[in-house]
Amino acid sequence: MTEEFFSSSAEETRRYGRQFASGLHPGEIVSLTGQLGTGKTVFMRGITEFFNCDDQLSSPTFPIFNIYQGFLGGKPVSLHHFDLYRIQSLQELDAIGFDEYLTSGYLSVVEWGDRFPEYASLYTAAVFLEYAGDDRRRIVMNHITP
Ligand SMILES: Nc1ncnc2c1ncn2[C@@H]1O[C@H](COP(=O)(O)OP(=O)(O)OP(=O)(O)O)[C@@H](O)[C@H]1O
Ligand SMILES: [Mg+2]
Repeated sequence: MTEEFFSSSAEETRRYGRQFASGLHPGEIVSLTGQLGTGKTVFMRGITEFFNCDDQLSSPTFPIFNIYQGFLGGKPVSLHHFDLYRIQSLQELDAIGFDEYLTSGYLSVVEWGDRFPEYASLYTAAVFLEYAGDDRRRIVMNHITP
């Protein structure tokens, strides 16, 4: 199922992130793509808001990999956030345990997921953002699993 939305502000994009997150389940792997500055991290912020995640903006591997602790229906949920922008090679991805984390049954969101097509088949949902003039963004959400 593909849905298309237009956002006119960062706040609105965050709201779309919250809305999108309401349809996610643990084990899903979301690819978040779009040019620099289109709002991937803003959208991700909406996802962390939906799960009431603690702010956890620093870790040894920030900004490549962060784990957020959140809640879904009162139960704890771990949300894994990857940003592959600075990753140069598959070897580097392997070194941070990308594959193992993705397939461990947690909920994962991968910014710049399209940089490594080798992993394309693992994604269960994809969100694409693009510039649509000034503060406007076109957001395309795709649920790959039913
Ligand atoms: N409609 C909008 N949706 C999202 N962000 C917007 C919008 N209008 C303006 N902005 C601004 O655009 C910027 C988006 O930054 P953000 O870090 O989320 O982009 P990004 O896609 O994650 O970039 P990068 O590829 O560098 O990680 C923010 O400064 C935000 O305030
Ligand atoms: Mg970003």
